[in-house]
Amino acid sequence: MVGLYAGRIRQYRKVLILEKYVINGATTLHGEVEISGAKNAAVAIIPAALMVDGVCCIENIPQISDTDMLLTILKELGAKIRYINKSTIEIDARNATYKDAPYDLMRKIRASYYLIGAMLGRFGSAKTTMPGGCNFGVRPIDQHIKGMTALGADVDVKNGFVYADARDGRLHGARIYLDKVSVGATMNIIIAAALAQGRTIIENAAREPHIVDLANFLNSMGADIRGAGTDTVKINGVDKLHGGSYAIIPDQIEAGTYMVAAAATGGEVLLKNVIPRHLECISAKLRETGTIVQENEDSVLVKGASTLRRVNVKTLPYPGFPTDMQPPMGTLLCLANGTSVITEGVYDNRFKYMNELRKMGAEVQVDGRVAVIEGGRRLTGALVQACDLRAGAAMVIAGMCAVGTTIVEDIHYIERGYEDFVGKLNALGADIKIVDFPDNDDSEKIISVV
Ligand code: EPZ
Repeated sequence: MVGLYAGRIRQYRKVLILEKYVINGATTLHGEVEISGAKNAAVAIIPAALMVDGVCCIENIPQISDTDMLLTILKELGAKIRYINKSTIEIDARNATYKDAPYDLMRKIRASYYLIGAMLGRFGSAKTTMPGGCNFGVRPIDQHIKGMTALGADVDVKNGFVYADARDGRLHGARIYLDKVSVGATMNIIIAAALAQGRTIIENAAREPHIVDLANFLNSMGADIRGAGTDTVKINGVDKLHGGSYAIIPDQIEAGTYMVAAAATGGEVLLKNVIPRHLECISAKLRETGTIVQENEDSVLVKGASTLRRVNVKTLPYPGFPTDMQPPMGTLLCLANGTSVITEGVYDNRFKYMNELRKMGAEVQVDGRVAVIEGGRRLTGALVQACDLRAGAAMVIAGMCAVGTTIVEDIHYIERGYEDFVGKLNALGADIKIVDFPDNDDSEKIISVV
């Protein structure tokens, strides 16, 4: 498990070796796929385990580099990590101490900001790097800082680090209105407030399923959190959290990605271990394209249409259409008949991947937060980059639909958020190989095929 992230780039006889996906299209996906645990729940629940005075047994942790890195960080802080099986992990943070954590890992992931709330809750102090993560526009943490300050912490950002200290040694409850609907700030404040003295109320809170999952995890460990999943969350701080067991919900965005892949390739895929209610906005939008989506109790069946209809998409906080599904949808709409419009309602620069799709023959006009896609195009294979996690998934879907061979670079982004992406797709009929390329002039020469 350890080193998932580092494994995609390595040295070989003084030549840098880069692993890339080589995708032969066009393929049609058929079969069944098991959805893993939710990345954006796991990356908050793992740091939150730092605050538990006991052993947390957490099931359905996705095997991805983001969770791998957070578990490594907790280990560096002195927590004991025991793997029960590939997706069930015991975390015992009782001997964790406040000390310098591996900042090189922290600055690689966005979710390292949850360590601020967890370390403040546990130690009364925190030092983390400014968060890393996907680069699609300005991603400030001012709402996180607003929340921690309201809870009684002195917060200072300098030299690329965030320093936070609870003025009275322990945080105290507060009423916090978020100026922006922020998933991260909502979850970070919930974490920090769980062990604060008194009641905290978060207003204008985000409502994503993974926020409810975090609250359910903390409540199963003895916290007192109500209203998660609504725009007002109330937390009555407790003195300690006890150990226990918890299973993370299935990943809404991983499921959505496979749904779009099935629709785009014109295949038929049964997604197992999902919560259909979390997928409603994605299912509704796919049905508008003519795709058939059948919901069962814990699975959905997606059948691609012979021809895809154009649609308009506007991304919004939950329960709106998820911004993380915007890039995969962008690929699908390149194949749909007619002109589609995507409006990005959350980030200010999340269309960089459109340049990569243009290399494959897509016709797209982008103006700020709006992309106009002239669909009905036959995509052709090309050398493309994964600009970020979800953009990388969009390029893989494009490669499966394109005629010819597509090589996707910077696949470490994709490995951050999709467990066994290549294995699951090949089991559905894709033709994807992870291939070593020398990072030099003849970088097209394949060294070895994994
Ligand atoms: C989380 O990011 C997810 N990441 C993102 O998923 C997801 O795109 C995003 O929520 C929205 O759903 C994790 O959970 C680790 P936000 P986060 O705070 O918390 C602005 C993926 O692919 N904002 O809800 O960073 C911000 O710039 C990743 O899995 C502030 O202005 O998102 C954005 O415009 C990509 N100040 C908007 O709010 C702040 O303090 C929403 O951001 C915080 C955010």
